[in-house]
Amino acid sequence: MPPAADPVTPDGLAAPVGLRTKDLLSIGDLSVDEIRLILDTAEAMKEVGTRSIKKVPALRGRTVVNLFFEASTRTRTSFEVAQKRLSADTVNIAASGSSVVKGETLADTVRNLEAMAPDIIVVRHQSAGAGHLVAGLCRARVINAGDGMHEHPTQALLDALTIRQRKGRIEGLKVSIIGDLLHSRVFRSNVLLLHALGAEVSVCGPATMMLPDMARFGVRPTTSIDEAVEGADVVMLLRIQLERMGGYFFPSLREYFQLFGMTPERLERAHPDAIIMHPGPMNRGVEIAPEVADGPYSVILEQVANGVAVRMAVLYLLADERQA
Ligand code: CP
Repeated sequence: MPPAADPVTPDGLAAPVGLRTKDLLSIGDLSVDEIRLILDTAEAMKEVGTRSIKKVPALRGRTVVNLFFEASTRTRTSFEVAQKRLSADTVNIAASGSSVVKGETLADTVRNLEAMAPDIIVVRHQSAGAGHLVAGLCRARVINAGDGMHEHPTQALLDALTIRQRKGRIEGLKVSIIGDLLHSRVFRSNVLLLHALGAEVSVCGPATMMLPDMARFGVRPTTSIDEAVEGADVVMLLRIQLERMGGYFFPSLREYFQLFGMTPERLERAHPDAIIMHPGPMNRGVEIAPEVADGPYSVILEQVANGVAVRMAVLYLLADERQA
């Protein structure tokens, strides 16, 4: 890659110190100090979004490919906004408009993209491990934008930024994650990050949607939503991922809402200053009542706004010449 421009220092942002990892595929790739560095850098990046001209030249001359094999609104748009705010040259590829529909494999797609010398590839794919496959095939830095049921590291980072902004800390907070745990990459990335930063995590959902090896995550599982919400500082709802289910894991969506849906009445058990989070997209009236999604405790749109800042930070730090 060409040397990184050093443009942000005059704008008040710290000079990049980089990350040790070549790629961001899992929260497990990051040390606690690196997680904090990303969050601190994202705080600085937020200021860029408040300017009339929302642009710094940090990634000028760098080419970033957004390779999305799975639907996305928030992640794809915020990565692209982040890249444009950093002045990168952005190329968007969706599976439906690519030669994947003619039978080309992911590996061949990546080899062909690599031949065009991109600096960073952002990849979302329906299969767990897709990011690792891509990273193993190219010199470009690779960012996992969600791989099947495995991980979604930038989602967990933007969630952490939102919690830190609202609560001033993450250490010692009681975080309750409720919903479709089994199919959730957001859960897997969040539990790694929240534990790394010292939060106490409990999880709740139907027994059919617990992971068989839940004990390995070091969380407190319950099938009682009232128990899960009791005293929680942060309540994070997860979407019921019907597209990843071969059949129903519960009798009906109506029954799911009755047993596990977050309502204003249930929320009264949480800490009085609790915040409500959801990574989106939401199933209103299934995992979350509309009054809760749009209510005063909801920080759901703050999560979306923080997604741009966190992705700017990750792109900026990964692009630093001094690492890898
Ligand atoms: N949270 C999230 O990943 O949303 P999208 O699927 O819309 O990107």
